[in-house]
Amino acid sequence: MTKKLFVKTYGCQMNVYDSDRMTELLAPLGYAAVDTPADADMVILNTCHIREKAADKVYSELGRLRDMRQERNDSGAGDMMIAVAGCVAQAEGAEVFRRAPWVDMVFGPQTYHRLPEMVARAARQGGGVLDTDFPADPKFDELAAPKASGVTAFLTIQEGCDKFCTFCVVPYTRGGEYSRAASQVITEAEALAGQGVREITLLGQNVNAYHGVGSDGSEWGLGRLLRALADIDGLQRIRYTTSHPRDVDDELIAAHRDLDALMPFLHLPVQSGSDRILTAMNRRHSADDYRRIVDRLRTARPDMVLSSDFIVGYPGESDRDFEQTLKLIRDVGFVQAFSFKYSPRPGTPAAADEIQVDEAVKSARLAALQEELLGQQTAFNQSCVGKVMPVLFEKPGRHAGQLVGRTPFLQPLYADMDASHIGDILNIEITTANPNSLSGQLAGPDQERACA
Ligand code: 5AD
Ligand code: SF4
Repeated sequence: MTKKLFVKTYGCQMNVYDSDRMTELLAPLGYAAVDTPADADMVILNTCHIREKAADKVYSELGRLRDMRQERNDSGAGDMMIAVAGCVAQAEGAEVFRRAPWVDMVFGPQTYHRLPEMVARAARQGGGVLDTDFPADPKFDELAAPKASGVTAFLTIQEGCDKFCTFCVVPYTRGGEYSRAASQVITEAEALAGQGVREITLLGQNVNAYHGVGSDGSEWGLGRLLRALADIDGLQRIRYTTSHPRDVDDELIAAHRDLDALMPFLHLPVQSGSDRILTAMNRRHSADDYRRIVDRLRTARPDMVLSSDFIVGYPGESDRDFEQTLKLIRDVGFVQAFSFKYSPRPGTPAAADEIQVDEAVKSARLAALQEELLGQQTAFNQSCVGKVMPVLFEKPGRHAGQLVGRTPFLQPLYADMDASHIGDILNIEITTANPNSLSGQLAGPDQERACA
């Protein structure tokens, strides 16, 4: 009999990738994914520890799951196995069992390939399975080739981080930097393309720090890897995320110049526009270094647009520091961004800083920053109206007879289109802009292809 598996993913795209791998690992044990936890035989929360709110959400969800498990048992429908995976599991370990004793399994991002064995152990001993190792043999060597579930796919090529920004838990939860061998990445990308995937997004906490063993035995950076991936038949679009400004090297910039498949949209977190704060954060670049990198990228690829992450209210951030962040945003121009109030994370250096910024000040700065960023995003979307862009159609849209796709600049685009066009890249004339999406129609054959 098929057993029902519900996986809930929090946080970044690497967790999305990991959740899909977990689902695939459990399929041979008879588990099939379902959309709701209520009647599930197993629930896995794949968690995020990056900010306090993200971690708190996990414990409230665990409370709800305890009740659901009880109801399921009372109604005679059977038991529910509950697992906490991901970065909260890695950071808190056995503490999860203490706060939520009804949890059966706790395992981190580097050990989920042992899931079948952990499930057997949990069933045998009635829970209590904890595995937060950083094993010497990377999990990637154990995992089977992923199954495509559409025309776009994520592919993790790098994990962990050695940068130790003072606010960030990643180096502690995901461990040190690790790059997969290029041949392994290429094989996985070829397998995905063979299953109809047209666009891959390469993932890594610090993806452009990639330094894997190349097919020729030498060490490859991301630029070199991108060149090899761009040669794969059927793979028409490549993206990568998340990058660090320090690791944007000449080879990567040249890849943006030379590879049509590499999309002209880059998520390049800067965090702050103040050199004082950037130094305190241990970012090891200045605001002007960032401006220069963006200039070089735009010289290499004139239609390049940028997205970024910002933190407001880092310990010691003054009004003047914050003004410099706003100035950088105005100077550079972003088409999309994520912004956060600084959230002290246990065990990170910044959390111990005595000059924490007042919550009300953080909130006011966040609102001002988001207003500026939303204005830029809206203006960019508006500037696209009347232009023609190649759009990769991914799936049905909100209404019948509609599909949704992505422009090269990652904007979702809705158009009335037959479902047979899923997987096609078509020239679309943009007719309407909304803050978060565009609408358009098939462009006539004589309409010029022009990007914003
Ligand atoms: N507080 C607030 N934001 C954070 N980020 C990482 N750590 C923290 C923290 N302690 C943000 C950064 C990073 C993004 C993934 O999350 O902007 O780029
Ligand atoms: Fe965290 Fe990114 Fe800094 Fe690494 S580079 S410590 S993942 S913010």
